[in-house]
Amino acid sequence: MAISNQNMDPLEAFTGSVRDYRELKGVDLLGRVDEFYRWQDVRRRHGLWPYSKSTEEAPRAVCVAKDDSGVSFQGVNFASQDYLGLSSDPEMKETAKAVIEEYGVHSAGSSALAGNTKYSLKLERTISEFLQLDHTVLYPTGWAAGYGVIKALVGPDDHIIMDGLAHACLQEGAGSATSNVHLHGHLNTASVRRRLKRIRDRDRNNGILVITESLFSMDSDTPDIAALQDLCDEFGATLLVDVAHDLGCIGEDGRGFIGLQNMLGKVDIVMGSFSKTFASNGGFVACNSPAVRQYLKYYGSTATFSNALSPVQAATVTKAFEIVRSDRGGALRRQLMDRICRLRAAFDNAGLEVLGDPSAIVPVVVGDEALARLVSRRLPGLGVVANLVEFPAVAKGNARFRFQVMPTHTDQHIQLAVERFARAVRDARPEYDRYRFRMAANDPQVMVRTA
Ligand SMILES: Cc1ncc(COP(=O)(O)O)c(C=O)c1O
Repeated sequence: MAISNQNMDPLEAFTGSVRDYRELKGVDLLGRVDEFYRWQDVRRRHGLWPYSKSTEEAPRAVCVAKDDSGVSFQGVNFASQDYLGLSSDPEMKETAKAVIEEYGVHSAGSSALAGNTKYSLKLERTISEFLQLDHTVLYPTGWAAGYGVIKALVGPDDHIIMDGLAHACLQEGAGSATSNVHLHGHLNTASVRRRLKRIRDRDRNNGILVITESLFSMDSDTPDIAALQDLCDEFGATLLVDVAHDLGCIGEDGRGFIGLQNMLGKVDIVMGSFSKTFASNGGFVACNSPAVRQYLKYYGSTATFSNALSPVQAATVTKAFEIVRSDRGGALRRQLMDRICRLRAAFDNAGLEVLGDPSAIVPVVVGDEALARLVSRRLPGLGVVANLVEFPAVAKGNARFRFQVMPTHTDQHIQLAVERFARAVRDARPEYDRYRFRMAANDPQVMVRTA
């Protein structure tokens, strides 16, 4: 039997990636982005562009959202990085209201000028105490912290050794600081050692910054932080660890993998974000050197030349740290870990591949981008809100959905999400097979034979 291509999704909606449009050529700086827009629009019109969703209410465990075309749907929400569920916490909201009443909603300027407030100063002290590092600098976002600390400390003659899966803010900070950037295999400590030795054998005059994350958000896995710090000490290098995804929500006391690996106060530089567990915006860099703190304040351009955190952000993040340190914080973390383990087990039972170790991020592998896009198209209709991650954020052919867990997810939420997700994968397969058939025919105009 032969069927026509009419009413079928165009093949280009399944192929290509945002990487294809990163470096554009041509004289017309504005006009040349049309190429991207056209490709994106094909995907959007066929329901295969799952990005830029919005929520119509607080992003709790169940919420109403809209897709990028404005179509509304309700679903179990596994797309929020509110790892302890603090964004709607009554104490957090009370704190925010009181500070707005007192200060208004704005800081006076950059923290290098008059943008500090009693709340931002308190937050700096809170973080230093929590991480057992004497000095903390705040940034308007976690991205600004990662980019800014690297750009401030690393010069063109220095070297950076960085895990190949490090976050975009770290990669971009590295690329803007020096051309001597050496990516190593994911979590491969032996490879870090080889690179350190090779660099030190020929260059004893310049600095080396080794960059990693305490929890990688695409794979939910963790490096040997102690071994990396030992290597840095041995080769006269400096270690930077990004704790965005585990600080506050992992470990008995919420100190993340740095705490679990007995590395509190022992890592050269720790940076993090308030946009996950701490339910706000902003970021920080902490270390033991007062000189580095002062230097970052005036040479860390993303802090120096950007408005400081607003008092309401600083105060709510401080409140979040207070909750994280309290018995309630401990109970929330235990509840979160319980939900994480249940979700992972449920995916496992459904025959779906889950990556990494238990953390608030549960990456579920689908594989081919085309299949993943077809799955993502079905999720809103099935009442599931989850984020698709595809190349270049992860390797080609390794597309996955990141389910981000909150303590407020119930057993029913978990069962429903897994059942519906498994159904989406099953239901997408025949369509995916037809797509592959068409690709194999290598001509989108060819009539497709289904039997
Ligand atoms: C590992 C990592 N570092 C830094 C950031 C940036 O944090 P923010 O959202 O506060 O800019 C993120 C957030 O996506 C992240 O995942």
